[in-house]
Amino acid sequence: MKVLVTGGAGFVGTNTVIALTKRGYDVIVADSLTRRGSEVNLRYLQETIPNLDFRQSEIEDMASLIFKEKPELVFHFAAQVAVTSSVASPLRDFKINAEGSFLVARAAADIDAPVIYTSTNKVFGDNVNKLPIVEQETRYDFDGELQQRGIDEKVSIDANHHTPYGISKLVGEMYVREFGGIANRCSCMYGPNQFGIVDQGWLSHIAFNKLRNRPTTIYGDGKQVRDILHVNDVTRLLLSQADMLITDRSRIAGEAFNVGGGFQNTISLLELCSLWGIEPEFEEWRPADQKVFYCDTSKAKSVFDWTPEVDMQQGLAELYEWTASTVAAV
Ligand SMILES: NC(=O)c1ccc[n+]([C@@H]2O[C@H](COP(=O)([O-])OP(=O)(O)OC[C@H]3O[C@@H](n4cnc5c(N)ncnc54)[C@H](O)[C@@H]3O)[C@@H](O)[C@H]2O)c1
Repeated sequence: MKVLVTGGAGFVGTNTVIALTKRGYDVIVADSLTRRGSEVNLRYLQETIPNLDFRQSEIEDMASLIFKEKPELVFHFAAQVAVTSSVASPLRDFKINAEGSFLVARAAADIDAPVIYTSTNKVFGDNVNKLPIVEQETRYDFDGELQQRGIDEKVSIDANHHTPYGISKLVGEMYVREFGGIANRCSCMYGPNQFGIVDQGWLSHIAFNKLRNRPTTIYGDGKQVRDILHVNDVTRLLLSQADMLITDRSRIAGEAFNVGGGFQNTISLLELCSLWGIEPEFEEWRPADQKVFYCDTSKAKSVFDWTPEVDMQQGLAELYEWTASTVAAV
């Protein structure tokens, strides 16, 4: 089976390409290589997969690639991924995430290939910050009925403020779903092949900081809580979704799923710093930062029989080890 992975040299892309290849799929990897570290991932993919079919391409070129190669399934991961960059350059963010995803989704629909899209929990915008929370010693938590349960897909996406990234990803998501694909509204994902930066991939970024003896700055008080999801759990879900799109597409076409580690895989910035022996520096809160986010993944569980399996402590230890083995390469 022929599949296309856009953003295939990125973090999620690289892990997905490996998983798809292990299954015997014929994978086309498309990426502009603009993300720092993507060239390292590409080398790794080329060393791991003989005759890797890699196409260096911008998002604007992906539609013609789809028409030419006619993949049966498209994993659309290529994106401008940082909220801060979206605020600084909203038009570029729009072009890549909204218009680019529209072009991919429409081209795929024209050849009848379903798309699996990585959306984001930022589509919920500041609705998340309106939910009641409680302050605890090292973290915030939801108060009331959402505590230990988290946010499900029914929380409104109609918010007063989203950030340009939240909007552009939502627009991309809506087009993918409109044309019969599915969207995963992802929380923080982590694992090997991740080159975190201050704006995105915070666990990886903090690991790189520590290994380079650089200071780690926390914006806010560090009690912000996130659910984190190991990339092996992500790829396992993506493969199940691929199977269902191939065998029973109408069952899930147009659906969105909240995808994250859930309450059992939550950690605050302070807790991570304590785990890795880091003395952080503190600065002012960043606008629109969510104090608590973790999602309720019951929908993905009921449809795909999927729950996160990687133990958080073990997953974080592996991330740290992988980062230590790679720090010299970037
Ligand atoms: N990593 C996370 O925690 C997280 C959370 C929520 C959503 N997401 C979404 O998941 C997807 C994958 O994230 P990731 O962490 O693997 O990011 P990543 O930056 O590692 O991968 C994205 C890839 O897209 C490529 N790319 C960027 N702009 C491009 C363009 N204009 N044309 C072609 N290729 C381009 C980059 O070179 C990179 O290799 C993204 O769509 C992101 O929005 C990620």
